[in-house]
Amino acid sequence: MSEATQDKKIVVKAIGLTKVFRDFWNRPKAKAVNDIDFEVREGEVVGLLGPNGSGKSTTVKMILGLLYPNAGQLTVLGKSPRAVDAKREIGYLPEDSYLYKYLTADETLDFFGSLFNLSRTERKLRIEQLLDMVGLAHARNRRVGEFSKGMARRIGLAQAMINDPALLILDEPTSGLDPLGCREVKDLILMLKKRGKTVIVTSHLLSDVEDVCDRVVILYGGKIRAQGTLSELLEVSDANRIVTPALPAAAMTRLLELLRASLHGEEFTIDHPRRSLEDFFLDVINRAKQDSVETAGVVGGGRIANYLQEGATDENRVLENLVKPDLPIIAAEKKREEEALRRAEEESEKQRLDQALDGLDKNEVPEKKPDDKAEVRENVAEADEKLNNLLNDK
Ligand SMILES: Nc1ncnc2c1ncn2[C@@H]1O[C@H](COP(=O)(O)OP(=O)(O)OP(=O)(O)O)[C@@H](O)[C@H]1O
Ligand SMILES: [Mg+2]
Repeated sequence: MSEATQDKKIVVKAIGLTKVFRDFWNRPKAKAVNDIDFEVREGEVVGLLGPNGSGKSTTVKMILGLLYPNAGQLTVLGKSPRAVDAKREIGYLPEDSYLYKYLTADETLDFFGSLFNLSRTERKLRIEQLLDMVGLAHARNRRVGEFSKGMARRIGLAQAMINDPALLILDEPTSGLDPLGCREVKDLILMLKKRGKTVIVTSHLLSDVEDVCDRVVILYGGKIRAQGTLSELLEVSDANRIVTPALPAAAMTRLLELLRASLHGEEFTIDHPRRSLEDFFLDVINRAKQDSVETAGVVGGGRIANYLQEGATDENRVLENLVKPDLPIIAAEKKREEEALRRAEEESEKQRLDQALDGLDKNEVPEKKPDDKAEVRENVAEADEKLNNLLNDK
């Protein structure tokens, strides 16, 4: 950690943090997080890295106060993770988008904005900017239930930022996004950092983390296996790299002679630097865009919302009077989802009944059961007639 960072306020501090999931009989089932120590300072972008099941989401959920540790200490913004006033300073993008599928993109953001007690005018302003920023302005009136994975991720990100939080926790923010979307998310994280926000990102996509994080914590099996700044962890200090413009042949020959003479037989390599595939891909797409190639997919966003930008005024910060029970967002949303489900079930039951009635009105009226006695009477009458005819013929 650099000296400048060390002077900054501690935003998250974990000591001996442990979480054990237990089964029905209270027997330990999985030690998801096992005695970890780490801290995150104000303005840092920290990556929690690790393969599937290494404990990233469990750590994040403890920071959010959604899961309670079995052991250890954890403070978030100097408070217990369960303190309500810490929660209103946090924006969270869950691993699985937790969206109310019957709301449109616009309504979704309005709903979350209202949970943070933002005024109608403020909500309208922020929603406009956020939708533009995440490239969903054209889909604002579509229900989020119809969204593709990438679109759901984008609206989730917008939702996490509606309260202009001090600490943003993004669980796999680029999962399901195309390379353009990934780049936009990374740019967004860098912009948030510039604004002094603290960001915790989890990922198993190393390039995502490498591009934006100041520091990484690498987890495996619930334990921290390495942590530090990227240069501390990645720099190969016993080798040098010099990148120059293409050299004329004579200069190259002289350089090689000099290297051979100074390295006394040690091997060295000279090659051309390579661009990353991501840079190349984005270049190709941007050129295609300039040639106006049509796409039906997400329209590139990336314009950072004004209220999130550097120099945005303090009045734009989250209002101070939000005091709600734990997880008001999830509780309220769940209630609405249940209500919608109930309404959808009622509606489908009504449709079923209507269809049945329609069928009755048309030709599906069940035939009347034949009256057995009438049939016998008819047969007898027929037999009588035949007998009469026979007798008459005689
Ligand atoms: N609610 C739960 N009940 C029981 N075990 C759980 C629960 N949640 C997580 N675990 C276990 O804890 C361990 C860590 O899971 P976690 O979700 O934190 O991993 P992760 O690093 O986020 O993985 P991924 O990259 O797949 O999202 C896993 O072994 C998982 O099975
Ligand atoms: Mg996870």
